[in-house]
Amino acid sequence: MLIKIQFAELAKAAAPEAGVLILPVGADKKLSPAAETLDKQSGGLIKKALGGGKFSGKRGQYLSLGLPAGTKADRVLLAGFGDAKSLDAQAWEKIGGGCVPHVNSAGAKSAGFVLEAVKGMTLALPEAAARIAHGAHLRSYHFDKYFTKKTADEKPTLQSFTVALAGAKALAQKSYDKLEKLAQGVIFTRDLVSEPANIINPETLAEKCKTLTSLGVDVEILGEAEMYALGFGALLGVGQGSSAESQLVVMRYNGLGKASKTAPIAFVGKGVTFDTGGISIKPANGMEEMKWDMGGAGVVIGLMKALAGRKAKVNVVGVVGLVENMPGGNAQRPGDVVTSYSGQTIEVLNTDAEGRLVLADALWYTQKLYKPKFIIDLATLTGAIIVALGTSRAGLFSNNDKLAEQLFKTGAKVGEEVWRLPMGEVYDKQINSDIADMQNIGKEREAGSITAAQFLQRFVNNVPWAHLDIAGVAWSKKDDAITPKGGTGYGVRLLNQLVADYYE
Ligand code: BES
Ligand code: MN
Ligand code: ZN
Repeated sequence: MLIKIQFAELAKAAAPEAGVLILPVGADKKLSPAAETLDKQSGGLIKKALGGGKFSGKRGQYLSLGLPAGTKADRVLLAGFGDAKSLDAQAWEKIGGGCVPHVNSAGAKSAGFVLEAVKGMTLALPEAAARIAHGAHLRSYHFDKYFTKKTADEKPTLQSFTVALAGAKALAQKSYDKLEKLAQGVIFTRDLVSEPANIINPETLAEKCKTLTSLGVDVEILGEAEMYALGFGALLGVGQGSSAESQLVVMRYNGLGKASKTAPIAFVGKGVTFDTGGISIKPANGMEEMKWDMGGAGVVIGLMKALAGRKAKVNVVGVVGLVENMPGGNAQRPGDVVTSYSGQTIEVLNTDAEGRLVLADALWYTQKLYKPKFIIDLATLTGAIIVALGTSRAGLFSNNDKLAEQLFKTGAKVGEEVWRLPMGEVYDKQINSDIADMQNIGKEREAGSITAAQFLQRFVNNVPWAHLDIAGVAWSKKDDAITPKGGTGYGVRLLNQLVADYYE
């Protein structure tokens, strides 16, 4: 369950009534008016705590203190913010998000963040308030639907989070409303990625896409018969070992008006609802992780929800190729040659390099049918990208410097960072086949993420295109300031901001 967010008027440093009162403290340890008041009421508790000990007001530091009888709140949580000048939107989100586990471990149901202007602060107070709330909201996410036995004290306690600020409650609420729509997109992605593969398969995931129609998104689903008629040999080959029917879902949102003819921007996602590797089967150890091999599709679906939810002024199309990669009796074999929708033939040397096969047909279909301004695809495509970049940045590949630059800048701004890798002739040669137009793995193991990107590039036909390999970032094994461990939803905030900054 997610927490309820509210904004309150802060009159004369009167703190909101809450279980935990949150007071930001900078590296200069200067007390805000509200902190001064509480310090007096509590017999000097705060100044004493700031006098010694580890808490120095640095960003990311928190100190939780019990309050004496006679004060309204049960506890105070000091939240370090460091240097006021460095507080951008991302910083405030992290400060807000970072409060959540501390409030939960104190067992409190409600928290009130007292936000007062600090000297040197650049971001307007209402925007900062909205960002604090957004961070707390995103961090409070839990995928807990399958617990049937947890007792109340084993569950997170925080239910309501209030940000109090002077004179600008309505403005904060207005900024927050857009962020709330964005968060709904992120949370939808996290939910989809976290679901196990016996619940989310190509057919049930396509059903989830259909829920977006209530937001004005046009959802069209192609099943196996339609894709067979079109000649989607690459995508269908991957799904043929599974008893679930492969699907291609096209989600269209025309924010410039239903009848608008303006070329859309396009997002394409890899949606392998489970990747066993197929006949080139994966080792048992860790295979359960491959339930989130639909992470790219999950981001595209969540992004469509966010954009339509906040009524973005943009025409956008989201395309997801949904398949399950299983080693059934009808599964494709290493060595099979398939004909893709583009007409190009592919020798499938490894059935575990399936994502690129799914994307090949989805990309070609997208560029051919929608003539988009650009295509960005997202895929948990290669283990090699985790070796190269780890789990904090997605791999970026592009045929267009401008689009790559925009993605890089936006990534830094929202804290969903990317790092561009090279492409070119030497890598492209690696995927030439002896018996078909190309093969689905490189001749050598080296540069595996790049040869995968080269493969995709053969299906985009010179449209400005970027590929994000999100294998390292779609799932996290540890909590982060605004992202609890599990499905991260990485990419939704990045692409929402890219659209807002450059394409609306
Ligand atoms: N879905 C995997 C990539 C992956 C690995 C995602 C680990 C997340 C975590 C992809 O389909 C795959 O199996 N790729 C192979 C490609 C190889 C056969 C060329 C890989 O990376 O090993
Ligand atoms: Mn695979
Ligand atoms: Zn895969």
